[in-house]
Amino acid sequence: MSLHRHKHGCDHETPCHDAIVSPISGTILPKCRMPRAQQDADAVYQLIHDELILDGSSKQNLATFCQTTLEPQIRKLMDDCVDKNMIDKDEYPQTAEIESRCVHMIADLWNAPESVSAVGCSTTGSSEAAMLGGLALKWRWREWQKAAGKSIERPNLVTGPVQVCWHKFCRYFDVEIREAPMERDQYTMTVDQVLERVDENTIGVVPTLGQTFTLMYEPVQQIAAALDDLQTRTGIDVPIHVDAASGGFVAPFLTPDVVWDFRLPRVKSINSSGHKFGLSPLGVGWVIWREEKDLPNDLVFRVNYLGGEMPTFALNFSRPGGQVISQYYNLVRLGREGYARVHGTSAAIGQKIAREIANAGLFDIVYDGAGGLPGCTWKFKAGVDPGFSLYDLADRLRVRGWQVPAYSLPANVEDVAVQRILCRNGFTRDMADMLIGDLHRALDYFRAHPVTSPQTEADGSGFKH
Ligand SMILES: Cc1ncc(COP(=O)(O)O)c(C=O)c1O
Repeated sequence: MSLHRHKHGCDHETPCHDAIVSPISGTILPKCRMPRAQQDADAVYQLIHDELILDGSSKQNLATFCQTTLEPQIRKLMDDCVDKNMIDKDEYPQTAEIESRCVHMIADLWNAPESVSAVGCSTTGSSEAAMLGGLALKWRWREWQKAAGKSIERPNLVTGPVQVCWHKFCRYFDVEIREAPMERDQYTMTVDQVLERVDENTIGVVPTLGQTFTLMYEPVQQIAAALDDLQTRTGIDVPIHVDAASGGFVAPFLTPDVVWDFRLPRVKSINSSGHKFGLSPLGVGWVIWREEKDLPNDLVFRVNYLGGEMPTFALNFSRPGGQVISQYYNLVRLGREGYARVHGTSAAIGQKIAREIANAGLFDIVYDGAGGLPGCTWKFKAGVDPGFSLYDLADRLRVRGWQVPAYSLPANVEDVAVQRILCRNGFTRDMADMLIGDLHRALDYFRAHPVTSPQTEADGSGFKH
């Protein structure tokens, strides 16, 4: 029987003798077993700090939607809150109060009819927020079905091409996902696709505001109007939950006339990531319900063993408080004008990059950076054989530290590969110019050194949604 081998190469029968000792030079960090003796704090810190350099520069990570630039004041607040547990609302009442202020401000931002009585909470991110929003939809649907004496056996959820959190929600909570596919040159869910899929077992429809694959917004207002009409014709009443993971903190500032939020009575809940365009450090999301009645009461737990009676709706228990406090800092510090200025600058940079990429002659722009999230998406022009793949291009850009993911689109256009850039706070015009210079150098390189066997997604950048 072969010995199980840890990926770091030390087997489980031989102890590692590479425990750290001072001075730093000449030592290596233990990888499989805890050392027996205590170590010098500065030496251990320095070794770990240096190892983390291999993660690369997060500012050059143009794949992530998440925040990578933080003001020093946020770092101080994170430090102030490092010992605060979000769940201990009785022990840290002011942190709880600040969470509640954020809920009201965000509900107001999303035009909730009564933002002061809006119901919502912070979460670890949009994934948890989506689970909570989905659970509320499932619970409400079950109550309606039971009241009408109908089956509660086969709930379904109708979505466009969604982020993986909705696949998880459906698998974990036993809901059939009816995911409308993309078609050639049609990247977002259409009204017809929604109407083909909804029925009386539909717990809700989830449009995405800032779709993961292309950065475009799905047409929430048109979908809501079609569902209003469906209700008039058939009596089937299907609520909408908007996955505004990124768009929730972009649309209100850059495209306030796009109607996607609680201005539409059919929109019952919305999730967003504070740690994406909410500009807060990693680890905070938000879910808000239109009105109290949209959050079924028996999903809320009243916890009384922490010294008080606190209603909670969450998938986990302990979590840090600093991210929520930082969200409050951002809302107050930036205000609507500040958010509009920060994201407006990023959007202009995304549009400039899209123009430059279009000018290179090889590419078709899938999303030009206008009207959705700050950034852009492109693919090769039809019929062009450039002699390299987008996965090769992603690799070549990585040589200069840039992470620009290439990936294939989902069903029904899996044969189309695209490349995408997210422009966020901290990605400056200057950096964008450097990236464009590097892109041209990469194209020159491929002209001079044709690729004999272009990479495919399987051996490419490994980017996964
Ligand atoms: C549309 C959408 N929904 C949900 C998520 C998950 O968000 P989080 O990483 O905050 O859990 C993402 C992440 O990129 C997303 O783009």
